[in-house]
Amino acid sequence: MDWILALALGYAFGSVPFGLIITRLFGAGDLRSIGSGNIGATNVLRTGRKGLAAATLLLDLAKGLAAVLIAARLWPDYAALAGLGAFLGHCFPVWLGFRGGKGVATMAGIAFGLAWPVGLAYALTWLGLLATAKISSVAGMTAAIVAPLAALALGEREAATVLAVIAALVLFQHRENIARLRAGTEPRIGSGKKG
Ligand code: G3P
Repeated sequence: MDWILALALGYAFGSVPFGLIITRLFGAGDLRSIGSGNIGATNVLRTGRKGLAAATLLLDLAKGLAAVLIAARLWPDYAALAGLGAFLGHCFPVWLGFRGGKGVATMAGIAFGLAWPVGLAYALTWLGLLATAKISSVAGMTAAIVAPLAALALGEREAATVLAVIAALVLFQHRENIARLRAGTEPRIGSGKKG
């Protein structure tokens, strides 16, 4: 039963749509009718409210991290499963008709919680590409692919397996971004274009 509890706790944490809550709370409109319609920090940035975007990023990361760390205390064998639950909660929240985010920030928190060096590899890849390529989806998808490989290289087999599943889901959630990248219409950070 513990595995169900770990998965459920993770899902409950992950399903809190911080981007949506914060933007509504601070009068920045309904994210789902802005830009890409996504509920993540990149789309919050398109409202022009940098502080709200940073808060969304940190809170979406924190819920993945918290799910893993709390589960590691309560059910040490199922911390990775709680991470998967948090990711599923973020991407498929019951409160929003199962239409949630793309999971990049939440995956960062999960990676840090499972093995901090993997989280560091994820964060450096993500931030490095954000600074150079300046396309959020490219940075997020690349970091997602790097995470399970880094876990494997560090001998973290269970983390590698869960992160590989999550990375596949990150790519699936970015299918519209991938189509825009192929068409050459994916916006760069700060371009002001709608994603
Ligand atoms: O974390 C989401 C990001 O990778 C893409 O966001 O709004 O450009 O689809 P968006």
